[in-house]
Amino acid sequence: MKLENKIALVTGSSSGIGRGIAVAFAKEGADVIVNYNSRKDEAEEVVKKIRDIGRKSIAVKANTGSVKEIEEMFKVIKNEFNGLDILVNNAGISEYHVMDEMNEEIWERTLSINLKGPFFCCKFAYKEMEKRGSGKIVNIASCGGIRGFRNLPHYCASKGGLIALTKQLAGEFGKFRINVNCIGPGAIVTERSEDYWSSEGTRKVWEKVIPLGRIGLVDEIIGGVVYLSSSDSDYVTGQTFFIDGGWTSQANWPGANLL
Ligand SMILES: NC(=O)c1ccc[n+]([C@@H]2O[C@H](COP(=O)([O-])OP(=O)(O)OC[C@H]3O[C@@H](n4cnc5c(N)ncnc54)[C@H](OP(=O)(O)O)[C@@H]3O)[C@@H](O)[C@H]2O)c1
Repeated sequence: MKLENKIALVTGSSSGIGRGIAVAFAKEGADVIVNYNSRKDEAEEVVKKIRDIGRKSIAVKANTGSVKEIEEMFKVIKNEFNGLDILVNNAGISEYHVMDEMNEEIWERTLSINLKGPFFCCKFAYKEMEKRGSGKIVNIASCGGIRGFRNLPHYCASKGGLIALTKQLAGEFGKFRINVNCIGPGAIVTERSEDYWSSEGTRKVWEKVIPLGRIGLVDEIIGGVVYLSSSDSDYVTGQTFFIDGGWTSQANWPGANLL
């Protein structure tokens, strides 16, 4: 097992990619803090799955767009687990808005959850990791962090910021043996996006622009996250790894105009 007896926090792990990561971490031997904002029942189901695997787990409600709530979450982690080895900043939102609809509230909500929250989680996490002499931080960005997506200026800016933040923090935290890396998922099916992907027309368009010819699965993101959270990646920091079926490798980026 790659994460035996490690303690991991996965933000936004009541569903989708975060849930997949949380359960995979438990299978690799880690105890996992399941963070959620609104879906308590789903978070408790993830906790149950992790306990059934034989690892310790609790669900902690915290809106990661709020520094105060993040701070409270870290107090709970300190009391219940007495430390942290791995942080995955996965919680994120993507709300599509045409330019004329965009306003300050939408902008601030997205930037708070997708960029400010990850920074403050890193700030609180590194104090715990420093005490343990090492740590791993994995930020979940997006292809939108290096390419434009129509109707998502706030999302693209937040994910581009997260990629830049990853590089900055790699420099800050290297001396503490804390690695900071980033995963950029491509188009991944989760239950929330299932309807969108199940439309044959939509799927066909995407299949044309992704070199590997298909949408990705949550399970296909997990291997990269486990690698960046384990000792296998001890000499890797400040990097962004795109798991996207080759989508971002294409120069003409046809996907941007198809969304
Ligand atoms: N799926 C894709 O195709 C794709 C592609 C590129 C990047 N990503 C990124 O991957 C990450 C996960 O995406 P997903 O598709 O798995 O999304 P999802 O299914 O919508 O899940 C989002 C998770 O984040 C949590 N969350 C949302 N706002 C939160 C907040 N303010 N505080 C704490 N938790 C919050 C949700 O918890 P509650 O519902 O309990 O609040 C949920 O557990 C995101 O950062 C997203 O940008 C996804």
